[in-house]
Amino acid sequence: MPKQLFSVTLISRATAQNTDVCQGFMRKLEGAFYDCRGYYLPAMKIQFHNPGRTYQAHRREIDAAVARVLSSGRYILGAEVEQFESEFAQYTGTKHAVGVASGTDALVVALRALEIGIGDEVVMAANAGGYATTACVLVGATPVYADVIEPDFTLDPQSVERMTTEKTKAIIATHLYGSMCDVVGLQELTRRNEISLIEDCAQSHGATLSGKRAGSFGDVATFSFYPTKNLGALGDGGMVVCQGQGLADELFSLRQYGWSSKYTVKTAGGMNTRLDPIQAAILRTRLPHLDDNNARRRQLADLYAQRLSPLGLEMVRAEGEAFVGHLCVVRSDARDSLKHKLTESKIGTDIHYPILDPDQPGWANIGWRSDDLPVSRLATKRILSLPMYPELTIDEVNAVCDAIELIVSEDAIA
Ligand SMILES: Cc1ncc(COP(=O)(O)O)c(C=O)c1O
Repeated sequence: MPKQLFSVTLISRATAQNTDVCQGFMRKLEGAFYDCRGYYLPAMKIQFHNPGRTYQAHRREIDAAVARVLSSGRYILGAEVEQFESEFAQYTGTKHAVGVASGTDALVVALRALEIGIGDEVVMAANAGGYATTACVLVGATPVYADVIEPDFTLDPQSVERMTTEKTKAIIATHLYGSMCDVVGLQELTRRNEISLIEDCAQSHGATLSGKRAGSFGDVATFSFYPTKNLGALGDGGMVVCQGQGLADELFSLRQYGWSSKYTVKTAGGMNTRLDPIQAAILRTRLPHLDDNNARRRQLADLYAQRLSPLGLEMVRAEGEAFVGHLCVVRSDARDSLKHKLTESKIGTDIHYPILDPDQPGWANIGWRSDDLPVSRLATKRILSLPMYPELTIDEVNAVCDAIELIVSEDAIA
């Protein structure tokens, strides 16, 4: 909702900036609150995430998909999973897709399929939420941290190059916040060093660079279908995609006990990590909406940028369709104060991510190596994620921006 001006704005600006007085002059009109200067104050909480809204908006088709699985009598793998795998491979421009139980398991089976384990090093970003480190720890490999670059805080190929040694077996390239990293530069680097490129696309479903989808550049790529992802299930889920038949066979085997066929184990290190057919059926209803939803996320991100950039808050994002707006991350030198005041205004925010992997207490003794991480470290102190999902309304984005405008003008912060 745009700013609304009332007669109460006759109060002098100096008086209006006194919040106590301001509270007294708050007005409620048509269910919404306005402060004494006529600024819209959201009466209802604006949630940081709201996957329930997605369900409500598409309830009929989702309910029908769930009912179809329930009445099929097939509750583990089966046609629903196979069809989704085939649709997802086609969508991402890859030959094979293997449905697994989560994005973390997708990384684990990808590392195992590439025969990466004890004594091997894997280069990754330190600011990507710890999922790649979790997977490395599970397979016994050593995480090696490289720094990230502006403007989107994705892997810096020069730092990756510095950290690549004889022991390096792979790079995990996370397309962070919905921005594709310099995947072409990293592809060149991995080919030259004869190591593997794993794309982590958990935050970048549908992102496109030079007409190619995220997930189609790497030797293997992983996805999460956690409910708030750009392609989200109503529970956990994940996928691994690749081009090679041999690698796909390994992945299919590893997701189910290492079997080549029922009860015959061909590969050690297998696990039970199958994509649930109910989630596969739900995801099949969501996939046809993915491109439209990504366009909507970009539209909302553009609105945020247009309103917040004049206030000194710059967005962390790549350009064009290489960005799918998984998160709306802005930079502010007064991040903690801004976050606190937005919480008081009932606007949900988050920090992705507050702690770098090498600073995590639980990983102090796993033997990681690291480049200097000046950009990652500074980013961690300045980043703030604002509400971002396709069902968020323009009014809500404006309300978040109105609140930030008010906070910035009162505190002269940015
Ligand atoms: C970049 C990244 N990689 C991996 C994961 C792990 O996915 P999941 O939560 O499905 O295990 C996530 C999810 O949160 C993620 O954001």
